Amino acid sequence: MGSNSVDNHTFSITTPLYYVNDLPHIGSAYTTIAADVIARFQRLKGVPVLMITGTDEHGQKIQRTAEAREKSPQAHCDEIVLGFQSLWQRLNIAYDRFIRTTAPRHQAIVAEFFQRVWDRGDIYEGHQQGWYCVSCEEFKEERDLLPEQRCPIHSNKAVEWRDEQNYFFKLSKYQSQLEQFYADQPDFIQPLSRRNEVLSFVSQGLQDFSISRVNLDWGFPMPTDPNHTLYVWFDALLGYVTALLDPADEPTLDNALQKWWPIQTHLIGKDILRFHAVYWPAMLMSAGLPLPGRVFGHGFLTKDGQKMGKSLGNTLDPVDLVERYGADAVRYYFLKEIEFGRDGDFSETRFINVLNADLANDLGNLLNRTLNMAGRYCQGQVPDVMGDDIPADYDLKSKGAILATTVEAAYEALAFSQACEAVLGLVRSCNKFLDEKAPWSLYKQGQQAETERVLYAVLESVRLAAYLLSPIVPGLAIAIYSQLGLAADFNDRAIGQTLPYSVHSRWGYLPASQALGKAEPIFQRIERASE
Ligand code: MSP
Repeated sequence: MGSNSVDNHTFSITTPLYYVNDLPHIGSAYTTIAADVIARFQRLKGVPVLMITGTDEHGQKIQRTAEAREKSPQAHCDEIVLGFQSLWQRLNIAYDRFIRTTAPRHQAIVAEFFQRVWDRGDIYEGHQQGWYCVSCEEFKEERDLLPEQRCPIHSNKAVEWRDEQNYFFKLSKYQSQLEQFYADQPDFIQPLSRRNEVLSFVSQGLQDFSISRVNLDWGFPMPTDPNHTLYVWFDALLGYVTALLDPADEPTLDNALQKWWPIQTHLIGKDILRFHAVYWPAMLMSAGLPLPGRVFGHGFLTKDGQKMGKSLGNTLDPVDLVERYGADAVRYYFLKEIEFGRDGDFSETRFINVLNADLANDLGNLLNRTLNMAGRYCQGQVPDVMGDDIPADYDLKSKGAILATTVEAAYEALAFSQACEAVLGLVRSCNKFLDEKAPWSLYKQGQQAETERVLYAVLESVRLAAYLLSPIVPGLAIAIYSQLGLAADFNDRAIGQTLPYSVHSRWGYLPASQALGKAEPIFQRIERASE
């Protein structure tokens, strides 16, 4: 993971701060699940982690939504924010900080940061003319618009003409410094396709962008000219800094930047790449601050192959999905099915098929039938076998021994589907192994030692699979460990200490002869609703 001044002993990661114009949609859930998985994997390795999420509450879009609902903007935000927090709880998101950009302490951080940029001479007054998309909160180039002046991202919304005095940030001044930075830190923007997109955008020449608005109240007043309101993106990006403050800290930049800065990974969707990969580093350069480690821009989700949208009437409600299928199912589907970084699709049929095949059949049935055999052939105990006594070339052991290395590399590269595939590979080998070895026949033939070795090897492989999948399906991992007779709380933030990675990621850990738990299906097969 190439990055400037990254400290390997702590890890900080952010999701975007979500607009509260509406309840959370599946796109916000997707980024948040992925960030949670990365954070959980780092915690598993014993690294101190700070995972940040939150809400972006200022600007015209929010102000207008509140007006339409006949609420004050603050009352509107206070209401919608609860929907985000409750969804994160249902999805089992273990964030450490939730930042709301309307927090008073955030205003102090924004003001101090603004002052640094101002003192650097990077802010000036000028005239802004152009097409503005309120949904993106961004000026658009005329050449990028769809017919009838519609925004390419919000194709059902017309952009609005703006002609006003604004304050500008001297982005153009940072052109060569940014280019140098991208060259020095080739991994700063990921995946590669997004990096190329940014390099091509920057090479066309950067233009200064306006960081204040007139005729808008819902935001922080500009410290040097209170007739202006700070542009929502200038304010929102700094939410990542405010979030670093310990709750008891005075809200100063020094305090905020002390422990967790620079942030290692900003996880975002591809639509907000420029803000994070161009504007944000330039703002930080201007304020004289170290730059984040990487910005990863994931793809967009579609439903049944179609762009999702309210006007199209095909939105996918994450609350409904998690209520019907549970957190582990939703988390697993999106990370296993879609190559992270690329666009991906949700279809209910595919969803049900993937979960039934991988979690109910391959993993769930495997554990269930092996536990039942251990019940019959080994008095309900882990067989009396030590992992270390099994020869290194023994089928499942040789596969299990290299699994953690493959899976770890996949998690580090945010290649979640590869991590799942690798683990499922071992699980499928176990099913094949059982069929070939047929422990029921071995037992009948009185081959007790071999029966026990076979069952031990499978149970231990399932344990390892659960451990390595735990960042993605923490609930399932807890259930599997418990049925193996092991107490484990994969939701515990100190998991890296209680179940150390160096011990549990190794094939052969499962202690011999301990009592196994009760065999129960860990993942209920999903029956297709009759239409
Ligand atoms: N408020 C800004 C972010 C400020 S960060 C300092 C914002 N908010 S948002 O709520 O509109 O978008 C949040 C995220 O949802 C973005 O990363 C965006 O890419 C993602 N998604 C929105 N629709 C999506 C899909 N259909 N599919 C996947 N992700 C998508 O932008």
